[in-house]
Amino acid sequence: MIKYADFREIPVRFSDTGKGRAIVLLHGFPETLEVWDEFSVKLARHFRIIVIDLPGFGQTPCIGYIHSMELMARCVKAVMDSLGLRKYILTGHSMGGYVSLAFAEFFNDNLAGLCLFHSTSLPDSAEKKQDRDRVIEIVKKDTRHYVNEMIPTLFAAENIRYYKEDIRDLKHIAHGVSQQGIINALEGMKERPKRDWILQNARYPVLFIIGKKDVVVPFESMLKQAELVKQASILFLEESGHMGFIEEKKRTQEFLIQFARKCFR
Ligand code: MLT
Repeated sequence: MIKYADFREIPVRFSDTGKGRAIVLLHGFPETLEVWDEFSVKLARHFRIIVIDLPGFGQTPCIGYIHSMELMARCVKAVMDSLGLRKYILTGHSMGGYVSLAFAEFFNDNLAGLCLFHSTSLPDSAEKKQDRDRVIEIVKKDTRHYVNEMIPTLFAAENIRYYKEDIRDLKHIAHGVSQQGIINALEGMKERPKRDWILQNARYPVLFIIGKKDVVVPFESMLKQAELVKQASILFLEESGHMGFIEEKKRTQEFLIQFARKCFR
């Protein structure tokens, strides 16, 4: 069921399905809550699933000109508070993972578990920051072209031909995101700090979902970060790029359900 919560005078759109203990799913860039539609159906048979349009994505409007990960984290908290929920698991895909780590910095006590889904606690390198600036200029000129070019690169090269429909749907979703929403998120990701200390100090279980063929978040770096965590679980997806919830959907769903059971035990 689609609902809205207030955050800094804007309506934040989210969906709320299933019953029981809550798992929050945060989309990556440049996505919206719809990317979790298929994936979340099975999870909602076991848990309450909250899926949020982060500021500037889907039907949640922009707030100013930079969407920092901290701002997005506070937006997630506003949604959860509107539901009166106190303890839950955050699952963040890529940019959603950066947001989850910012959330963990501010609202540690609300976490029963954390899942970094093709995501990292490391900041952008100097080179990556420069690339973000380059991308912002491209987006200003032709957002549509940028989206069409970037979406297929999220999949493992050999999977692209098997996921043509999903790629088409993802492009459609991303075309619905405003130019300003895309730029605000790029600016926000560019300035995010290193948060490996969140992993070192995590008092809750942390799941790392890692794609062997991920070109956005290299698997070697994720495996190293998992070593920092006391209660770490790893799902290593041999056949996935950056989109394991599509490329190896069933395996990922099942692992996440087992992980959530462990967190709520
Ligand atoms: C994402 O999937 O959210 C982005 O690729 C993350 C990033 O650009 O760092």
